[in-house]
Amino acid sequence: MDYRITSYDDYRKKYDESVNNPEGFWADVASSFFWRKKWDSVLEWDFIKPEVKWFVNGKLNITENCLDRHLEGNGDKPAIIWEPNSKDEANRVISYRELHRDVCKFAAVLRSNGVKKGDRVCIYMGMVPELAIAMLACARIGAIHSIIFGGFSARSISDRLIDAGAAYMITCDGAFRGGKTIPLKDTVDDALANSPGVEKVIVFQRTHNPVSMIKGRDVWWHEEMTKVDEAELLPAEEMDAEDPLFILYTSGSTGKPKGVVHTTGGYMVYATYSFVNVFQVKQDDVHFCTADIGWITGHSYIVYGVLCAGCTSVMFEGIPTYPDAGRFWEIADRYKVNVFYTAPTAIRSLMAYGSQPIEGKNLDSLRVLGTVGEPINEEAWHWYDEHVGKKRCPIVDTWWQTETGGIMISNLAGITPAKPGFATLPLPGIQPVLMDEQGNVLEGNEVSGNLCIRFPWPSIIRTTYGDHERCRLNYFAAYEGMYFTGDGCYRDKDGMYRITGRVDDVLNVSGHRIGTAEVENAINMHTGVLESAVVGVPHDLKGQGIYAYVIMDVMPDDDAHTAADILQTVTRIIGPIARPDKVQFVKGLPKTRSGKIMRRILRKIAEGETRQLGDTSTLLDPDIVTLIAAGKK
Ligand code: WT7
Repeated sequence: MDYRITSYDDYRKKYDESVNNPEGFWADVASSFFWRKKWDSVLEWDFIKPEVKWFVNGKLNITENCLDRHLEGNGDKPAIIWEPNSKDEANRVISYRELHRDVCKFAAVLRSNGVKKGDRVCIYMGMVPELAIAMLACARIGAIHSIIFGGFSARSISDRLIDAGAAYMITCDGAFRGGKTIPLKDTVDDALANSPGVEKVIVFQRTHNPVSMIKGRDVWWHEEMTKVDEAELLPAEEMDAEDPLFILYTSGSTGKPKGVVHTTGGYMVYATYSFVNVFQVKQDDVHFCTADIGWITGHSYIVYGVLCAGCTSVMFEGIPTYPDAGRFWEIADRYKVNVFYTAPTAIRSLMAYGSQPIEGKNLDSLRVLGTVGEPINEEAWHWYDEHVGKKRCPIVDTWWQTETGGIMISNLAGITPAKPGFATLPLPGIQPVLMDEQGNVLEGNEVSGNLCIRFPWPSIIRTTYGDHERCRLNYFAAYEGMYFTGDGCYRDKDGMYRITGRVDDVLNVSGHRIGTAEVENAINMHTGVLESAVVGVPHDLKGQGIYAYVIMDVMPDDDAHTAADILQTVTRIIGPIARPDKVQFVKGLPKTRSGKIMRRILRKIAEGETRQLGDTSTLLDPDIVTLIAAGKK
């Protein structure tokens, strides 16, 4: 890990180098990975088209970097420590050697079931080691995985399956989460009723609940694994640096989620580089990231980055409050976790239980704490610092996105200064700029604007699957020659960055991204709904809650009952994470003469403001605002 930044001066030096000579900078970083064939040129890029290529014509397989490379010196080191949902069940410690073997075997299973390089494979599983094995096995043979978070509905799965043109799925019979057993396979079966393109489903047995297995289509993971002849395992597929590694769907401001595409070489380099530097990891570190692998955080900082760096990754199947709110701390002690990485929403929810669940826990193995997913409020930051870090662990506030593949703006633990509420400074290689609405770059400090990045980094989004124009419009069209993040940002007097939240119609609920249009579309599918408008509202635990204004053809007699029915529909169409916290039935929506909904006003009313609603004179029907504010329907 020659690219590890070792001091604040080193940070400055590397940062300057990364701006003045980006190709030299990244060639140095990339050199410490294993390439079958080195690249011809480091970077080709054009943000107008957009087209970005890193490590052009380089050949590699990411799993050789995650696994094979460690076998000689570290084969017996735990790659994954898996903590089950229930404390009564045995944990699993999987060494690099064992993980390598299982990945190779499952790669053979995929091949024998017809999966080829470039095929898309959807994975819908709970947090079991086989999820990591499945994704690495896809990467081993060059298949493109598309993981769908286990909380999404059948409808969300089929939308993604169809968009990705996937013919293969990997799932579990079910998943254990807290006190619940979630019937994943049933949901997959519902999804497949609407996506006949799927030819094969491989089912890992986790819960042993009864499932329907369709002849010719569905096969059991454990049965397939026994058919593999270990002596005949094939070598890893040679991939081009720019071959897609995975697709991950994420919400945008318009209708359907888009499939963010990451490619092999650049993603590997950046996920690992950012992991090593932000958390300042050491070779034998134990890293516990509490995210689900269904999100980008889990892709980069449970699986790819951690394994490439040769560390130990703790993977937890359950939830922070089961069987009690001390679970995370118990895990940290039990496995001597050095780096703990979670979301502000989890910190806030644990804070609500007070310090009792944390008392009596040692937590002395912890060295670095991290947060991700949403702005962290100061109260939560200080609680984390005092009660978890005992004021001796730096907290890294890491800003990044599904589209960026890795952490972009963050302090580097113990190397660059932290500041509560601030993601602080960009990593070397990242060039943030703030833009005003007119498209001017805001120079200097103490300015607020829209956050853009003006130069490519290795794990930048390459395209949105099947629709490159959508990628261009979403990220590269708002400001010419820049990648637009969708976030607002403030740069303080010291040049530190504070992310202020989305400036588009995207909500951040418990660190999960949800498009208002997506929720509205789901609500509008409910019988009797004529129109709806969804806005975010501050929420103590979730950061943002979802507030829905709904117009019905006939006003309901029993608001609560109809609202509950609407929530059912949203759960069915998207998943429980998109359920509105509040539904208000209204007669109309505040619209401009051109028909645009004035969300600004709706946001204020949702926050409880009834008087100072700003200028309503441009509205088609200003009276409607008075009615909504008064809660009249
Ligand atoms: C959006 C990206 C990247 C992992 C998890 C979310 C918000 C993310 C921070 C942070 C303030 C943050 C942004 C961003 N966000 N990290 N440290 N401080 N806001 O990935 O689902 O792609 O969401 O999450 O608004 O655009 P995602």
